Amino acid sequence: MTRPASETPYVLVLFYSRNGATREMAEQLAAGVESISGIAARLRTVPPVSTTCEAVDPEIPAEGAVYATLEDLRHCYGLALGSPTRFGNMASPLKYFLDTTSELWMNGVLADKPATAFTSTASLHGGQEATLLTMLIPLLHHGMVYAGVPYRETRLLTTQSGGTPYGTSHLAGAQADRPLDDDETTLARAQGERLGRLALAMRSLHEAT
Ligand SMILES: Cc1cc2nc3c(=O)[nH]c(=O)nc-3n(C[C@H](O)[C@H](O)[C@H](O)COP(=O)(O)O)c2cc1C
Repeated sequence: MTRPASETPYVLVLFYSRNGATREMAEQLAAGVESISGIAARLRTVPPVSTTCEAVDPEIPAEGAVYATLEDLRHCYGLALGSPTRFGNMASPLKYFLDTTSELWMNGVLADKPATAFTSTASLHGGQEATLLTMLIPLLHHGMVYAGVPYRETRLLTTQSGGTPYGTSHLAGAQADRPLDDDETTLARAQGERLGRLALAMRSLHEAT
């Protein structure tokens, strides 16, 4: 369980994205984390879940972030979890990965580390808050300390698209072609910055374990 000594502390930005919207959010969050001196962002994704149980994806995806391992999660100083909304809940590939984390849970590896969540939907009232709140549940089981987005981010009060105090969100539109707007980008960055600061501030709670 020992952390590699040479490793820069990092926040794991773990996401699933089929069409790219959640990936775009993940990149903004990661940029926010990286703007904080002394902490890095590690972008990781998860493979899709196949209905054919024997199907196995290549170990390295053709493009984008590489697949997360339990070691990425074990050694992180904070976690940003991102998923498209699927019927008001997180997407099954991400849940599938989380369901493999029993050993980390049994050993309290993620306890006292800060976490946050982000999501993207097709429609404005299509379940952003429901998704974010349900994504928080497994993180609480792990003993993580959930950090949303505080209202000092004044765009929360004025956004006409994504952005919630439970985490950031993005309205991708029915055709999944709406890019992140200025409010969504700013809030995702702020969320990443806050998580980076919290990860550094809380490091003494778990670093010795
Ligand atoms: C099976 C399925 C269920 C979905 N459920 C919802 C939903 O409940 N509400 C919503 O607004 N969008 C829903 N969507 C749309 C996606 O959340 C939306 O297109 C999202 O931006 C995709 O993110 P991505 O580009 O990162 O894959 C659903 C899409 C799929 C494929």
